[in-house]
Amino acid sequence: MTQAIRNVMIIGASGTIGSHIFKAIVDSGKFNVAVLSRPESTNTYPAGIKVVTSDYSETSLVAAFKGQDAVVSALGAAGLAQEPKVIDACVKAGVKRFLPGEYSCDARNAKTAALIPVFAVKAQTAEHLKAQESKGLTWTSVITGPAFDMGLQFGLVGFNINTKEALIFDGGNKAFSVSNLSQIGNAVVAVLSKPEETANKVIYVDSFTATQNEILAELEKATDGKWKVTESTTEAAKKEGEPLFAKGDLAGLFLLLKVITLGEGYGSDFTRDAVLSNEKLGLPNQSLPLTIAAAVAGKSI
Ligand SMILES: NC(=O)c1ccc[n+]([C@@H]2O[C@H](COP(=O)([O-])OP(=O)(O)OC[C@H]3O[C@@H](n4cnc5c(N)ncnc54)[C@H](OP(=O)(O)O)[C@@H]3O)[C@@H](O)[C@H]2O)c1
Repeated sequence: MTQAIRNVMIIGASGTIGSHIFKAIVDSGKFNVAVLSRPESTNTYPAGIKVVTSDYSETSLVAAFKGQDAVVSALGAAGLAQEPKVIDACVKAGVKRFLPGEYSCDARNAKTAALIPVFAVKAQTAEHLKAQESKGLTWTSVITGPAFDMGLQFGLVGFNINTKEALIFDGGNKAFSVSNLSQIGNAVVAVLSKPEETANKVIYVDSFTATQNEILAELEKATDGKWKVTESTTEAAKKEGEPLFAKGDLAGLFLLLKVITLGEGYGSDFTRDAVLSNEKLGLPNQSLPLTIAAAVAGKSI
């Protein structure tokens, strides 16, 4: 019988995704929450949250993790290379569960890992993590697809609710899985609440899985009018995105993220192989119509 998780330390708790994970964990009221932060970090936390600073040396990490049942990493691209060190410190400190910085597209897909290096880093970390199972550390990787409500503000998966513009790829009929920011938090809370069922597993969740054409139809219905639509292909996005990304241009990264989400063979439809864990985890319904209705009303779901 796996012991319940009570003490949880979050790394990157003020980050783009980590702040939503932090909120969900705190709001659940189920855990004693602590945060690990760098000494130079200027992020602040509500009173009552224990904040431990670490320069990521082994000694400081092990000391920080002592007494924690679970460590949830939401390290961003700049910090992800630190994760193997963090994992080793978890083993030394006797932490029972580690959640690596995932919450995105599936790094286990070879095409995804080959196209965007951060996913190759995540895949390597996943291997390192598996190798610790015999040392008593269990793990759960939470795969969510792109953050839909966040991305709707700037066209992450082709839709910009502020300009009512849509960029449709390859005809718009490929299904892909996405999660709203709150659903990412819900999934992490559910994993921590069900340690036995989620031990040493890759967990796939979504808010909804739909095609670009289905999303566009719902957006046009909810906003009462036609959007400006531009057609493109994932092949063209890849061709344009790769050299831009190689030069360090973020526009290139956003094109490549569209390729791994909307292109064929990148494992972005989590319903295809019936791998979704929403029901098992008891996640709330965040269907396409519910999500769009909230977004149009300027609310978060
Ligand atoms: N699904 C999506 O659409 C989506 C979008 C964005 C990110 N993600 C994923 O979510 C995870 C978190 O990414 P994020 O973008 O949310 O992270 P982020 O905001 O870039 O950074 C999170 C935190 O990492 C900590 N950190 C540790 N070492 C650092 C370093 N050397 N430089 C900068 N920060 C460092 C910082 O916390 P302190 O200041 O407290 O130390 C920072 O606030 C990643 O796995 C990422 O791939 C998913």
